[in-house]
Amino acid sequence: MRLKLATIITCAASLFNASAADTYTPTPENMQSRKEFREAGLGIFIHWGIYSMFGQNEWYLNRGINAQEYAKAASGFYPANFDAAQWVKTFKDAGAEYICFTTRHHDGFSMWDTEQSDYNIVDATPFKRDILREISDECHKQGMRLHLYYSHLDWTRPDYPKGRTGLETGRDSTYSDWPTYYKFMNAQLTELLTQYGEIGAIWFDGLWDHDEDSIPFNWELEEQYALIHRLQPSCLIGNNHHSTPFEGEDIQIFERDLPGENTFGLSGQDISHLPLETCLTMNKSWGYNVKDLDYIPSDELIKSFVRTAGKGANLLLNVGPQPNGEIPAEARKGLAEIGNWLKTYAPTIKGTDAAEFAEQDWGVATRKDNTLYIHVLDPDVTEVTIPVSKKKIKSAVGFTSRDKINFKATKDGASSTIDLSTIEKNGPDRVIELTTK
Ligand code: GLC
Repeated sequence: MRLKLATIITCAASLFNASAADTYTPTPENMQSRKEFREAGLGIFIHWGIYSMFGQNEWYLNRGINAQEYAKAASGFYPANFDAAQWVKTFKDAGAEYICFTTRHHDGFSMWDTEQSDYNIVDATPFKRDILREISDECHKQGMRLHLYYSHLDWTRPDYPKGRTGLETGRDSTYSDWPTYYKFMNAQLTELLTQYGEIGAIWFDGLWDHDEDSIPFNWELEEQYALIHRLQPSCLIGNNHHSTPFEGEDIQIFERDLPGENTFGLSGQDISHLPLETCLTMNKSWGYNVKDLDYIPSDELIKSFVRTAGKGANLLLNVGPQPNGEIPAEARKGLAEIGNWLKTYAPTIKGTDAAEFAEQDWGVATRKDNTLYIHVLDPDVTEVTIPVSKKKIKSAVGFTSRDKINFKATKDGASSTIDLSTIEKNGPDRVIELTTK
């Protein structure tokens, strides 16, 4: 009996150890990287590949087009005006702290000199320059953090087990070879994480391709994530799977919506305790779209940025460079205007946290230590009430004017009303700086 009990205890202990070992514990380097990421505030997403040549978004191949025919675009891809130094400078001037570059999108074309496939920028195009090398060199030179987008799904390779998209590209529907495809991805990720210096994050996308499988698809993420963290412990892992983060992930991504909102239909997931990021576009497209000139006015982009910061999240704002390597003029204009606004307001929105109260009808608040920044986004209100008692407020000033602002307690004393009559309106956001006790 005694023996039996001992055996049971040993078994239970080893079971416990096994599951404890399976639990992901981020390294100190990774925690530091998360902290830097949280403080970054603004990143620039870049969707660029041979799909840009068709000028109809990055999903063009999915529109009943044969992958072999599509691939012929590569032999004409010569982005004569591509200038990595200029790109990185444009993004720096916009106030971005990091960029996220599409290394390989769903069409399977690699934007770096990969050894794992000839379908890449150096071997398959007359351009023959390793675009990722030029971007990474410039990022490291100009002090810009570099994140890499990597598609889990592939609409071109025969070994990728077909999911629910890209089914008309001419691949053999009866064939797939997951072990080979998985090995291929890990070999590519190894290149990305060993040949291009420090990588701030790997940004996965495409997992949803198998979200309707009757038997849940096993992407073997655990081993892949462990590989990434082994190669670069500080590299953050994010996955745009539209669910709450899985074990081994370091950031949580929201697509086309702010955390907790779901107007587009891809962001119903709960908000985790991980650093958050929302990706939005400047017009309606990710990849270059020749018809989409519907750019969001920069005042509106700034408001979205402020609201994102009010949720404690970063904004990853997308540009879709043209086939010639230039960033569309409208996008450059918008970025310059954001950068100009940030010259004044960066301290109120970068390196800040969400305030202790949620978004209000008039706007949001951000916090840094004992400073609360009240961002009034509604241009028409003359006073705002915040759920912070007057006793807790030491002082209030206009962020730019530094003039004293009047505030008083509400009747029940639980909140305070701030008078905005002396604050000048000179942009999309009126900011009041409160020092709290
Ligand atoms: C989606 C799309 C993809 C785009 C991404 C950006 O998942 O499939 O084209 O790259 O969103 O968030």
